[in-house]
Amino acid sequence: MPTLAVIGSQWGDEGKGKITDYLAEDADLVVRYQGGANAGHTIKVGSEVFALHLLPSGIIREGVLSVIGNGVVVDCDELRTELEMLHKTGRTGDMLRISDRANVVLPYHRMLDGAEERARGAKGVGTTGRGIGPCYADKIARAGIRMGDLLDEVYLWERLDTVYPLKEKLVQSLGIKLEQDKASLLGTLLEYGNLFRPYITDTSVLINDAIKDGKKVMFEGAQGTMLDIDYGTYPFVTSSNCTAAGICSGAGVPPSAIQDVVGVTKAYTTRVGAGPFVTELHDAVGLHLQNVGGEFGTTTGRPRRCGWLDMMVVRHAVRLNGMTSMAMTKLDILNDLPVLKVCVAYEIDGQIVEDFPGNIFKLARAKPIYEELEGWTSASCSPAEIKRKGYGALPKNMRKYLDFITTNAGVPIEIISFGKGRDETIDLRKRRWSE
Ligand code: IMP
Repeated sequence: MPTLAVIGSQWGDEGKGKITDYLAEDADLVVRYQGGANAGHTIKVGSEVFALHLLPSGIIREGVLSVIGNGVVVDCDELRTELEMLHKTGRTGDMLRISDRANVVLPYHRMLDGAEERARGAKGVGTTGRGIGPCYADKIARAGIRMGDLLDEVYLWERLDTVYPLKEKLVQSLGIKLEQDKASLLGTLLEYGNLFRPYITDTSVLINDAIKDGKKVMFEGAQGTMLDIDYGTYPFVTSSNCTAAGICSGAGVPPSAIQDVVGVTKAYTTRVGAGPFVTELHDAVGLHLQNVGGEFGTTTGRPRRCGWLDMMVVRHAVRLNGMTSMAMTKLDILNDLPVLKVCVAYEIDGQIVEDFPGNIFKLARAKPIYEELEGWTSASCSPAEIKRKGYGALPKNMRKYLDFITTNAGVPIEIISFGKGRDETIDLRKRRWSE
């Protein structure tokens, strides 16, 4: 049963797009199971650069079936835009399947996302404004519209009849007006139903059949463990389960279907939006990481907050996801920093804490306890040399940094990425996940 989950260990933006694309070489199916168009996965193939938000990364690879699972919230406008972008590159998008049970992000979800953020003022979450929270809230409140509903006019009208008047009242109370009336929204949704009809199906059956047939199935996480609705820095999180736990409910597979779990871990830490970040740097090193690392959001363009690697975060992610290995990204961004700090524990109210606290009030008082390691220079780290010789060409201190992380996390680093391209990757795996 060759299956693999690729999950972010931190607050998203760890470079999952590249790693998923790299590992998808062996995949028959790539499945997204949570999140929506709030994600931003950048993939570089030769001179082409793809910025995907909703489509699974597998869509770039020929012969790979890309699945949007029921746990994803689908923004139909965005989906159409991404498919059009794909067509322009000569790819058909035919290898896409969308769960009939996936909830639809409706225009009023985006309006409400903005209105709720404005109402929270300085205490806002800093959402991507893509309507994610309001859509998931409707799903849980049993007030959502699902992709399968778009295929049945009578049923869709009945659903809108139930949910629309409530929304109208809610939106009015916030002093805004819905963009479309019920009939016009019905028309838009039916058009999308026609457009996406060939792709909409029961993806749980499809995925489970594929697993039974020995096909290689990859589950692609969006966002990261610290943005998980349950185990992230609540309430500064997204509205889905980004951890491996989300795979079962979001793709419709049993827990036994998850075999290998790769945690994509950036060599330092970043986060977009508000919320606690214990190792955040407000100094020249923080600026260095932001500028050299190009730390600006793929979805919103916002600058990302930057800081040292936090093993409290990584160990939390290892435990929650049952990680079997790590893929380390962006090590080269640390080039030329003479001293590297890695946070190994927190001090909170005079106590040493080694497990990530659930209470952000407590977290706000946390002081990082750092171990210091010696850095390396860019002169000792030649990408061409690394491409040719692999791991042995990495500077000694970089290898020490990697060893330190492996020992502290208790999980091996099996993939090292030192650039955006597929060939800028060191692969230390003894066994490919597909074997
Ligand atoms: P939402 O998912 O748009 O509701 O935003 C909730 C929080 O998650 C905000 O802090 C966002 O910046 C963050 N977020 C959502 N998606 C991503 C992502 O793909 N990468 C990094 N942060 C994200």
